[in-house]
Amino acid sequence: MIYYKTPEEIELIRKSSLLVGKTHAELAGLLRPGITGLELDRIAETFIRDHGGIPSFKNYNGYPFTLCISVNSMVVHGFPSAEPFKEGDIVSIDCGVFMNGFHGDSAYTFSIGEVPEKTKKLLRVTRESLMKGVAMAVSGNRLGDISYAVQHHAESHGFSVVRELVGHGLGRNLHESPEVPNYGKRGNGIMLKEGLVIAIEPMINQGKREVKTLKDGWTVVTRDGLPSAHFEHTVAVGKYGPDVLSTFEFIEEAIKKNNNLTLN
Ligand code: MF3
Ligand code: CO
Repeated sequence: MIYYKTPEEIELIRKSSLLVGKTHAELAGLLRPGITGLELDRIAETFIRDHGGIPSFKNYNGYPFTLCISVNSMVVHGFPSAEPFKEGDIVSIDCGVFMNGFHGDSAYTFSIGEVPEKTKKLLRVTRESLMKGVAMAVSGNRLGDISYAVQHHAESHGFSVVRELVGHGLGRNLHESPEVPNYGKRGNGIMLKEGLVIAIEPMINQGKREVKTLKDGWTVVTRDGLPSAHFEHTVAVGKYGPDVLSTFEFIEEAIKKNNNLTLN
């Protein structure tokens, strides 16, 4: 069952998503070789609570942290760890905030210092794939139009789409109907209507698409060990265009000010 949102509810999801974007920016200001994921997790949790939110992921199905931090060949759901980041790492940070009864959810993949050209391209193309999908979140389109747009862009650049994990509806619950796959056919699936709010979140691999889950029960990694990137926006389907409720604006300001990071 799909819960369509009223304009008032969409504004609340925008507020939660804004706090996610501000949290990401806070972390982007601190990211550098030597800092650890566990440090970032503590900072993120404090920042979210200080601003009146609750971390969406913590205790969700037993997930033990505020952030998912997935480094290099980790696809998603990596645990923040005590291992310091190093020059050349790509670090995906996924964050959710629950506030005023509604969730916001967004992810961004950062590069620490210089990363190989191919990996830079992976980050750029994954982000572009997200935006191609977002552009299809318009009333009257089909869900498959989003999926196709993401898949087509990623694959036409020689990268592969993870199938085992998908985007999702969200609102009062972090995960609601419908599922939003990053692969599919144009014209397939439910018709998109105003009030539908979804998280679109391509997970794109530099090599082959196959993944596996580590023994911790959460961390998803590429089978071939090559890097994977993840970008996510919370988006409301609009009558004339997509309404992107989360934002990378503050993240990018922070990246420009941080000499340890490069903008892709
Ligand atoms: N953005 C991810 C998702 O929507 C993060 C969920 S992590 C979990 O699935 F721990 F909360 F499951
Ligand atoms: Co999500």
